This record gives sequence, C-alpha cells and structure tokens, in this order.
Amino acid sequence: MLEDLNISDIHSLGKPQAIEVLSQITRIEKKTFPASEAYPFGEELWRKKPNTRVIYVTLAPQGPLIAYALYVRQKGAAFLHKVCVAEAFRQKGVGMQLMKFIRTRLQKEGCQCVHLWVDKGREPARSLYIRNGFEERERFPDYYAPGRDGIKMVLDLERGT
Ligand SMILES: CC(C)(COP(=O)(O)OP(=O)(O)OC[C@H]1O[C@@H](n2cnc3c(N)ncnc32)[C@H](O)[C@@H]1OP(=O)(O)O)[C@@H](O)C(=O)NCCC(=O)NCCS
Repeated sequence: MLEDLNISDIHSLGKPQAIEVLSQITRIEKKTFPASEAYPFGEELWRKKPNTRVIYVTLAPQGPLIAYALYVRQKGAAFLHKVCVAEAFRQKGVGMQLMKFIRTRLQKEGCQCVHLWVDKGREPARSLYIRNGFEERERFPDYYAPGRDGIKMVLDLERGT
C-alpha cells in the first residue's frame, strides 16, 4: 500500500506546471492504451475547458507522476472517461485512493451520479469500479471493436456508497 500520495487537480496549477503534468500523463497514456483509445491530453485542458477535470497523483509533492484520471461534469452528473495508474505502481492501492478522492470531491460539489463505460475485458478496472460502489447498468455488444463489449456503469453518490 503506497502512502503519502499527493492527489491534485491540474486547474490548481500555473500554466507551465500544468503543461508539464499533461505531458507526463501523455507519456503514460501512450504506453497504456492503443492509439485509437488514447485521450488527447492537450494544453487546452488547463482552464479552457472548466467542465473537464484532470486529476493527477504524484509520489510526493514534487515526485514523479504515477496516476491520473479525467472526468467531465454536466449538471448533476459526472462522466469518468479515464482512470490510469502507471504499470510499476499498480496493485498498491493507488487506484482506490484516486477513486476515493474523486468520489469525495464530487459529493462535496453536489454531484448526484457518476457514469462510465468500460471494456468488458478490462477486469482490473471493472473490479476497481465495483469496489467503489459502481453498478452495471447496460451491456453494449462490440462497443469498442468486434468482440469487445462495453459495459455502462453508474455510481449513485446520493446513496452514500
Ligand atoms: C484499473 C487500475 C486503474 C487499477 O489501479 P490499481 O492502483 O492497480 O488498483 P488498486 O491497487 O487500488 O486496487 C483496487 C482494486 O482494483 C481491482 N484490481 C486492481 N488490480 C487488479 C487486477 N490485476 N486484477 C483484478 N482486480 C484488480 C481490485 O478490485 C482491487 O481491490 P483489492 O485489492 O481489494 O482486490 C489499473 O490497473 C490501470 O491503470 N489499468 C490500466 C488502465 C485502465 O484499464 N483503465 C481503465 C479504463 S480508462
């Protein structure tokens, strides 16, 4: 279990630091996801898109970036598009701490539910979401590619899970 993690939002940074964090995220994103599923973590995510929030995790305030997440707020809902922990830091509780940070923050902001779509084959992610109170709502055959089904999951934040 990794402790002393620094979890923060790129919107709380100045522009040069935010751009540095976004470039570190881009490196991990490219290593983790195929090009067709890699999210473009461009400069415009800092301040220009206030509803799109990028959360990042470092080992200490100035330490290396080890995880990140991206969600979009729309009225009472949030859409969680990415959660990723760098490979060397997986299975040490980082994903749980990141999800807890997001849940607590959205609850404080009065958000009612979190929606996401996940590839059925991404077992660790599905398990992480279930552990955090998400429920499967719908299955979409061949959603990501032929033979790769998508699962829509929802977390009800008002239920206090
Ligand atoms: C999914 C992911 C974020 C989990 O991060 P993590 O830091 O390893 O997760 P944690 O160590 O906090 O584990 C929390 C829970 O996640 C699940 N989990 C994590 N790794 C797992 C694995 N290899 N197999 C099955 N379940 C796993 C378990 O439910 C675990 O709870 P447990 O330890 O009580 O069993 C990480 O594996 C990852 O970045 N995967 C690649 C990117 C991805 O698929 N993202 C989701 C789509 S955008």
